[in-house]
Amino acid sequence: MKEVQGKVAFITGAASGIGLGLAQAFLEAGMKVVLADVRRAALEAAAAGLGPAAGRYHLMEVDVTDRARMARAADEVVEVFGKVHVLCNNAGVSGVSPMHEAGYEEWDWVLGVNLFGLINGVKSFLPKLRAHGEWAHILNTSSMAGLIPMPAPGGIYATSKFAARGFSESLRIALAGSGVGVSVLCPGLVKTGMMQTGAELSPVPADADGPSPFGAGVNMLDAGVEPIVIGRRALQGISANEAYILTHGEFRDELAEVFEEILDAFPPAPGPEAAARLAMENGRRQAVAAAKASLKQAS
Ligand code: NAI
Repeated sequence: MKEVQGKVAFITGAASGIGLGLAQAFLEAGMKVVLADVRRAALEAAAAGLGPAAGRYHLMEVDVTDRARMARAADEVVEVFGKVHVLCNNAGVSGVSPMHEAGYEEWDWVLGVNLFGLINGVKSFLPKLRAHGEWAHILNTSSMAGLIPMPAPGGIYATSKFAARGFSESLRIALAGSGVGVSVLCPGLVKTGMMQTGAELSPVPADADGPSPFGAGVNMLDAGVEPIVIGRRALQGISANEAYILTHGEFRDELAEVFEEILDAFPPAPGPEAAARLAMENGRRQAVAAAKASLKQAS
């Protein structure tokens, strides 16, 4: 387990919900935190509730889709706290329209925040994470919707979260042995204002009468886990460099069904004609196995 006391984290989407839960858990553990969000007023309101952590947190108005701003944010964190150890790419939005009806503007918005926000975070912060020679970590917030398909209107969201998961898994392998760990956080329902935030930030109007698997007027997130619980669990996962940080045990059977369905789709075991292909695949397999072995050794 890595020592987190005194380490510095940059968290996007930190004005509310899970991002704020991460910030609270990190401050509780003695870390320094930069809370970044596109909503300045919400950031200030959140900071008012942070309690006795004066001097250990800093607010930054940042749009994760703005690459120049993200690059400046990385410089600013180092100016304020000297180093940065943990990047939490957490800002996220849910789409408002069924995926087959949504226009490009909505696709660009959701993928811009939920996928390119992660890429922009890594491009901007990775050099700073590696610069100090101490341990460092990237936490990407995906979702159970990154593992299980979603009914309308969740299709754009699920697309972005599957991408966030794929990005994280490959990044973890790419950075193995570099001193920078990568985890993907996949929560189920968490009690946040994501639906309201999405309606506020969406470039297209939300259709209040549109399809909902949960019933008209039902905010499914009201049944969710408190964000601070997710924040504390995520900190454990970061400290132990876990690949997947899963928080909702009720999804286990459903996920097993998804994997079973995929495994059932394979053709019968390949015959001798597959030998050349398998030989080609061996290099890739060995590279992944070596990365995983080095991660296991380091933990
Ligand atoms: P939230 O709406 O409370 O927090 C998201 C934050 O991201 C907001 O403060 C919002 O202002 C900020 N944001 C949106 N666009 C931004 C941009 N372009 N640049 C910077 N900040 C931006 O919602 P919540 O639930 O806390 O969401 C946080 C993350 O957790 C998201 O990635 C979401 O997809 C994910 N998640 C949420 C679950 C839930 O049940 N609430 C479940 C699984 C994943």
